[in-house]
Amino acid sequence: MTAVKYINNRLSIDKVSFQEIEKAFSTPCYIYSEVTILNNLNDYSSNLSSSDLVCYSVKSSNNLAILKLIASNGYGFDVVSKGELQKALYAKADPKKIVFSGVGKTEEDLSFAIKNKIKSINVESYSELKLINKLSKKFDEEVNIALRLNPEVSSKTHPFLDTGSKDTKFGLSEDELSCCMKLLENGDNINLKGLAFHIGSDIRDFSSYEKAIKVMLKKFNTISKIYPLEFLDVGGGLAIKYFDEDQTIKIKTFVEKVKQSIPDNINLVFEPGKSIIGNAGFLLTKITYKKNKDNPILIVDAGMNDHIRVPLYGAKHKILPAHKTNKTQKKISVVGPICESADYFDKNFKYDLDEGDLLVICSSGAYGFSMSSNYNARLKAPEVLVKNGKAKLIRARETFEDLIYKELDL
Ligand SMILES: Cc1ncc(COP(=O)(O)O)c(C=O)c1O
Repeated sequence: MTAVKYINNRLSIDKVSFQEIEKAFSTPCYIYSEVTILNNLNDYSSNLSSSDLVCYSVKSSNNLAILKLIASNGYGFDVVSKGELQKALYAKADPKKIVFSGVGKTEEDLSFAIKNKIKSINVESYSELKLINKLSKKFDEEVNIALRLNPEVSSKTHPFLDTGSKDTKFGLSEDELSCCMKLLENGDNINLKGLAFHIGSDIRDFSSYEKAIKVMLKKFNTISKIYPLEFLDVGGGLAIKYFDEDQTIKIKTFVEKVKQSIPDNINLVFEPGKSIIGNAGFLLTKITYKKNKDNPILIVDAGMNDHIRVPLYGAKHKILPAHKTNKTQKKISVVGPICESADYFDKNFKYDLDEGDLLVICSSGAYGFSMSSNYNARLKAPEVLVKNGKAKLIRARETFEDLIYKELDL
């Protein structure tokens, strides 16, 4: 399902045209569709039981208004830092619905998580578990954990997005797992509640999940003979359609397949990011300059600091003109203004547009704004949420003061 369509030749998101949005908030600008976010979440939860949990992966987009929307609809969160946990709690998330992943959780991260009694710290190394054990004694607090295993299953995705292969830094290897099991024998304050895995992002077919689930179920059966495990956390990673022809698995089908592969008595935790917010978000940008008659180059006002997925992952995003046109040409490039040759959005764009025209970079809601930076001393773009047919600012465009306020004059 897509949130955008042309109405009277004007590309519109939930009936609000991008031209109107540009008038109100200028460019570059991120825009999200509230209804799409909620529909995607509902596609996960509608076939789950009340003891299963959907934990939105905060790293994909962490705007407070979006977190509040998700929390107020009863969903949980997957966080990877103290900052994400603080933001989720600030957005009134229920701590009992928060899981904390990540290979490098610091003492500060873990202390904060323990004090806030979250659902589960998903442990990724023996050293981390030793630290949790020490902190649980120091604070005299019980801690609920899951062991995130490395299932040694690679997913057919970009190498930077593969997190389930043996040689990645993620999850517990067999050796680390046996050390953890020994520690748990004497870890009085630690409750092992579940097992977890996350094999990567942008995964388009179920076969890697199937393999990983098999590995995990074996472990689940063995470990649950010793500890009363409650849940299996199957991570996130489901791909979205960037183009209509992309072969992906629908959320509902994915949930059904996971459920079919796992016995009913095991509660499930899902950690989706991209499949919730990816197709709900758009980056609006304006053409600043056009150069070259042959193989024209459109230089737009958004750059890789605003959206880094193309150079980082070789991602391809559909780009549409905000005003419908039939004027096409071959091999147009859409590039950003940044001093890096990697700063481009498309090298095969077909719409022959002019300076001042608006472009919409689709499916950019996940890992778009949340990975943006101030590179080239550029101000981060504003974020706008379209809700009930109205576009509302949910993060203001940064100013020069934002850029320098942490810097000290010597
Ligand atoms: C542990 C964990 N869970 C969930 C996710 C979300 O993945 P996606 O946005 O692809 O659904 C990630 C992404 O990197 C992750 O590392």
